[in-house]
Amino acid sequence: MKILVIGSGGREHALVWKIAQSPRVEKVFAAPGNGGMGQLAECVAIQSKDISSLVDFAEKNQIDLTVVGPELPLTLGIVHEFEKRGLNIFGPSEKSSEIEGSKVFAKGLMEKYNIPTGEFKTFTDRERAIGYIQERGAPIVIKANGLAAGKGVIVAKELDTALKAVEDFLVKRVFGYAGREIVVEEYLEGEEASVFAFTDGEGILSTLPAQDHKPIYDGDQGPNTGGMGAYAPAPYLDDLMLKRIEEEILKPAIFCLAEEGRPYKGVLYAGLIIAEEGPKVLEFNCRFGDPETQAILPLLETDLVEIMIAVCEGRLHQINLQWSNRSAVCVVLASKGYPGSYEKGKVIQGLEEVQKMKDVSLFHAGTRTEDHKFFTHGGRVLGVTGVGVDLEEAIQNSYSAVEKIHFEGMVYRRDIGAKGLLTLSKLNG
Ligand code: GLY
Repeated sequence: MKILVIGSGGREHALVWKIAQSPRVEKVFAAPGNGGMGQLAECVAIQSKDISSLVDFAEKNQIDLTVVGPELPLTLGIVHEFEKRGLNIFGPSEKSSEIEGSKVFAKGLMEKYNIPTGEFKTFTDRERAIGYIQERGAPIVIKANGLAAGKGVIVAKELDTALKAVEDFLVKRVFGYAGREIVVEEYLEGEEASVFAFTDGEGILSTLPAQDHKPIYDGDQGPNTGGMGAYAPAPYLDDLMLKRIEEEILKPAIFCLAEEGRPYKGVLYAGLIIAEEGPKVLEFNCRFGDPETQAILPLLETDLVEIMIAVCEGRLHQINLQWSNRSAVCVVLASKGYPGSYEKGKVIQGLEEVQKMKDVSLFHAGTRTEDHKFFTHGGRVLGVTGVGVDLEEAIQNSYSAVEKIHFEGMVYRRDIGAKGLLTLSKLNG
């Protein structure tokens, strides 16, 4: 089979890496791909939002399955364009990907179908939003309705931060149309978790739970990023809690989307908070998470291509997901300044040595290659995943690889997985 993966980040490199392991796959293409994918895939210079070029490429090259990494092409309707030409594609339609593309839609859906989530109100009017925020007080969460490249959610610990977010989103329109409407939401206390579900629109198969680390600094300090690291499985989600998440959140979400005339197929990402009273949804995304995918896929033993084809053909019930009983930790190496502005073009050293290490996988994100050298080319540059018999060993494997890599201005968190170790020590008394 010939597979095309759309996207250019660490998540897409992990997808390419896993897909290339399938005995059914003869060739993988990545569009546009990145500096590190070249060993496994042929990178094609088509941007992920250039839907008409992507569909032409897939048709001309007789691609058997296209896998969409990022949300933007999904919300732009790429699935419909491929299916119109009789091409297989893994991902939800434009209408169903609105579950990520519009926070107002997603919250309304959860309210209508009693899917547990924080209390909220939506606003287009600055004065009304400010009045509500002052009445509720901080901490409080402000979300831009539309896609904002991971920057549209402000967790305001102070009232001033919340009011500034209203000003930025509704008045200054820093995210343009995406900030025309906002959601003001209750701040929820608890451990965060990410659970993905493969779904063909009827059944679901959920993945191992993972925990992302969004803030830039250790101890969850500083501004949110796209994710500075992740580990799986998250030990505070036992089988009972996972069952609740499936029954109270994932299955109802798939059911209600179908009820609303938006049948969903692909992978549904539930960003959750495990509150005292049970799991609640922080957000739904219409795709795999980044960097959670880089921690989850190394533990997947079932052929990912088989799963994806079963999703496309509506026969997910025939798949039995198998997982390794090991743990995985992905540490993200970023450019100094990220999530704000940063410099590019710094030479990256140490990659060859890391590639030889056992139980370590290197996933490129913002890199580019020239003359057999790698250079930084983005905010999140690399993901280094270590696998081990337990979380502790996975952390050691990951960080011993990280120590071998260097580029000017390299920043990373030193506590990825530490919350999981703390939970394990509490569970073990
Ligand atoms: N890790 C956060 C996201 O993928 O949205």
